[in-house]
Amino acid sequence: MTTERIIIEDKENPKEELLKKPAEILRTGGLVAFPTETVYGLGANALNEAAAGKIYAAKGRPSDNPLIAHIGDFDDLPPLVLEIPEAGKKLMEAFWPGPLTLVFPKSGLVPYGTTGGLDTVAVRMPADPVARALIRLAGVPVAAPSANTSGRPSPTTADHVWQDMNGKIDMIVDGGAVGIGVESTIIDASGAEPVILRPGAITREMVSAVLGKEVPLDPAIISGPMKADVRPKAPGMKYKHYAPKAELTLVEGDAESVAGTINRLAEEKLAQGFRVGIICTEETKEKYHEGMIRSMGMRAREETIAHNLYGVLREFDDLEADVIFSESFSRDHLGQAIMNRLTKAAGYHILKV
Ligand code: TXA
Ligand code: MG
Repeated sequence: MTTERIIIEDKENPKEELLKKPAEILRTGGLVAFPTETVYGLGANALNEAAAGKIYAAKGRPSDNPLIAHIGDFDDLPPLVLEIPEAGKKLMEAFWPGPLTLVFPKSGLVPYGTTGGLDTVAVRMPADPVARALIRLAGVPVAAPSANTSGRPSPTTADHVWQDMNGKIDMIVDGGAVGIGVESTIIDASGAEPVILRPGAITREMVSAVLGKEVPLDPAIISGPMKADVRPKAPGMKYKHYAPKAELTLVEGDAESVAGTINRLAEEKLAQGFRVGIICTEETKEKYHEGMIRSMGMRAREETIAHNLYGVLREFDDLEADVIFSESFSRDHLGQAIMNRLTKAAGYHILKV
């Protein structure tokens, strides 16, 4: 299959003319990758089981891992769900359009092929103007996982999508680099008590403020799904995700001890002939001297870290790093999402110093 690529110059006001073709492809059962404010998505008509099936094939994704249905307007939600519990209503009013996915009991309209056999459906209304215009023009809800090959870091640029999906999908809509860089927050809002299934840019603190009470995290987020007795509620969270090709170790502790440990380990690995990567920040990069040193952004502005995280992991794939040592972050606010992705990329390998 030849993958067509179209470039949207004016992201804030995308020309409808340019989006007609991808909208038509989506409506008629094809696959189109498109930018959202979080990461690039790989879209198909969410109401068409065969189209959703093509997503799993292109990504090499297990078919029990459900897809998020993306909508363009509030009116698009009621047909997809059986009910909208009160907390879910408050959250969508506060954060839609935006980087928040809500899980509701699904209606008969949504095929099991989209929900991985579940009786719930995950729905998100993205804020990205290109995504929103495309979904509205398609006139159908758009099922879209991140547009990476299963197991690779999510794509934050159209080039990342191209690397993984060229020849496997009909079209890539290139809207430049995304803003946030980590996937949406997912909240199970299907019952009376909401639970955070995946942390993202809509933080636990923000959600708790809107609902006026502490919203819990799914225990699997904290302990890691490797423990047999903790089954994550978002099926996708159980897979080793976001994985770089290299073996990644997170080092956690005060800045000096972390740098000291990383330098010592890097030196050992270099002496053994390995290609070594180091992930640090603007504030700490001067502390490192050997290996491939990459700053992810500024600790003082964690949104810059989230923005660059997957790009840095992909860069180390391209550089064929064998081992990577990374600094750690706090687990408050956006740090929760950053640490969730890093811990998973590291296969839960954390060194406390
Ligand atoms: O930011 C995002 O959410 C991006 C963009 C493209 O919107 N999409 C995304 O999709 O990250 P994906 O498929 O890579 O991750 C979706 C996660 C998976 O872990 C999946 O298991 C979970 O959402 N999920 C989907 N439907 C669910 C449901 N009904 N119940 C619980 N978890 C669900
Ligand atoms: Mg994904």
